[in-house]
Amino acid sequence: MGALENKKILLGVTGGIAAYKAVELLRLLQKAGAEVRVVMTKNATAFVGPLTFRAISGHAVYLDVLEEDPEGGIRHIAWADWADAVVIAPATANCVAKLAHGFADDALSTLMLAVRAPVLICPAMNTHMYESRPVQRNLDLLEASGMTVLEPDSGDLACGVTGPGRLPDPAFIADRLVKLLVPKDLKGVRILMTAGPTQEAIDPVRYISNHSSGKMGYAIARAAEYRGADVALVTGPVSLPFPVGVERISVKSAREMLAVMENRMERADIIIKVAAVADFCVQNAADHKIKKTEGAPVIVLEKNPDILATLGAKKSHQFLVGFAAETRDLAAYAKDKIARKNLDMIVGNLVSGPDSAFGSDLNTVTFFYPDGSEEALEALPKERVADLLLDAICARRRCRGGLDA
Ligand code: PMT
Repeated sequence: MGALENKKILLGVTGGIAAYKAVELLRLLQKAGAEVRVVMTKNATAFVGPLTFRAISGHAVYLDVLEEDPEGGIRHIAWADWADAVVIAPATANCVAKLAHGFADDALSTLMLAVRAPVLICPAMNTHMYESRPVQRNLDLLEASGMTVLEPDSGDLACGVTGPGRLPDPAFIADRLVKLLVPKDLKGVRILMTAGPTQEAIDPVRYISNHSSGKMGYAIARAAEYRGADVALVTGPVSLPFPVGVERISVKSAREMLAVMENRMERADIIIKVAAVADFCVQNAADHKIKKTEGAPVIVLEKNPDILATLGAKKSHQFLVGFAAETRDLAAYAKDKIARKNLDMIVGNLVSGPDSAFGSDLNTVTFFYPDGSEEALEALPKERVADLLLDAICARRRCRGGLDA
């Protein structure tokens, strides 16, 4: 959520049962480094007291367009100018209608007419109201005027109806707000990538694998989606929340991963192979659980196909990025892999000792290029490494010939 660091966010709260979730959203935005001011409608105060928002945000809540601004300015203009982004959660049917038609009869609607920053509208209401033609028409009008409308979740609503209309999870709203704030320098670029470990079966209940958690690959997929790319993520088994807006293709073994990558590589502009692919699989994998009464089994290993090398041999217009996980001689091994696998770039990292990249929230990487140049980065959060990697890819693609990234 680095994009929210030091950002000024206006949180609009209107009178729906989901107003209580806006308190959690406020906290999440603050945790991500944003300064938040809250504007409430009169009806919203019937669901959550303004004092709650005042205490947590550290600012007076803006409630009445006629009340005097303690700072002496014209508050609906000053706050509209102050905001880097606005999120209205929940947005009732009434609020949506007022914004769609330019009404200015309370603090929120008046202020919204003066806002120039990106706006995220999170409608939440009864399913029938949400699906009604006037509300849908008004939401279309908001989108046409440049606001982003978040689709509500489906589920059981307070009114007893089941269907669309629930306010999405505050973490999801915060995530979409980040996307709104990130420049779209990868808009329309198709990225195919892999993450996590592979698992190679010994028998139906046992496997060989490695310590990859998927954190590095998932951070790259998330960052690329924020930046506007169409991302397909081929993932080994991991237990992380899947990035929003990214296509998921789940695999277990290296051979399954190879089949998906071969099938899809034609349609990709950029391929990034972060997965820690098992180099060996079990040649004599058993069809049934091996019983210990049969004694210790002899496991015969055979080499897995090298997916990255296969892609390297076939690539044409693509930009192909590999990762090198080493326990020593990082530069030598990474440079060897660039040449052998026909890569445009490789990201080297160490996977032994206390600073191992496996499972950690931080990574210390070096970017290596085919022309022999390299760039070593300090230890950084994987989210930051992801952004710097995407910056480097964009820069190299631009140099290579006026590509759109
Ligand atoms: O998932 P995390 O816990 O966040 O950890 C991140 C990471 C350490 C897994 C990641 O940063 C990383 O280094 N990934 C590559 C791991 C790896 O398999 O490295 P390698 O040096 O063995 O392979 C080099 C490259 O060839 C990699 O891009 C790999 O995806 C690819 N490869 C390897 C073997 C194989 N049979 N097929 C492949 O495509």
